[in-house]
Amino acid sequence: MKLIRVKDYDDMSRKVANIISAQVILKPNSVLGLATGTTPIGAYKQLIDWYHKGDVDFAEVSTYNLDEYRGLTGDDPQSYRYFMNTQFFDHVDIDKANTHVPDGSNPDIEEACSSYDKMVKDAGYVDLQLLGIGRNGHIGFNEPADAFSKGTQCVDLTESTIEANSRLFDDPEDVPRQAYTMGVQTIMNARMIVVAATGEDKAQAVHDMVFGAVTPQCPASILQLHTNCVVVADDAALSLC
Ligand code: GLP
Repeated sequence: MKLIRVKDYDDMSRKVANIISAQVILKPNSVLGLATGTTPIGAYKQLIDWYHKGDVDFAEVSTYNLDEYRGLTGDDPQSYRYFMNTQFFDHVDIDKANTHVPDGSNPDIEEACSSYDKMVKDAGYVDLQLLGIGRNGHIGFNEPADAFSKGTQCVDLTESTIEANSRLFDDPEDVPRQAYTMGVQTIMNARMIVVAATGEDKAQAVHDMVFGAVTPQCPASILQLHTNCVVVADDAALSLC
């Protein structure tokens, strides 16, 4: 793992955006694995800015998002599809048909998961995977468990994740209890992984990811075994390292 220490959220956002830009400039038809949450918003803003300045474009890019709440349709403002459209896709030249998010509106778990796996596989897996990290070390919505997951799965969200994500909902009761998430093995198939983390509340998770035992109790710890993984984190997130 390569650690890049940054000053703060803005610095992290610019550096992550730089890495994504370089990927897309070097390989215009890159397959990007994208993430939601507050962590990547600044990087998306930066990429939009550089797109408007003509520094980078996304016309040939395709994307696969990590996860989606089960039970929400893409036009629900709380869905991750809506987040991706409004925070990024609507503002650049990407072809929406080439953007993919697990289908939260599909109640058939088996079908929703296997069809997403097939899409990612048929795309040749991801060139660059962007990840945030949950306070309990989750990646995507792969929560601490007894084994690392493989392909896309439906998960029951932990209380800590529901509580952390409730800040984005008007009523905490509205936070869905389940989600579809790309599996850990699929994430590990990405040719490059960039993990972004800022703030003290991520310090324990970042420590366990980088220096802890490799264990499914901290799903992000498996990234220690990836040969091309970069962690971009600020002083607060690295305060226990
Ligand atoms: C959510 C998402 C993750 C994200 C994590 C951290 O549960 N499923 O993909 O990395 O939370 O979110 P944030 O960046 O808002 O801290």
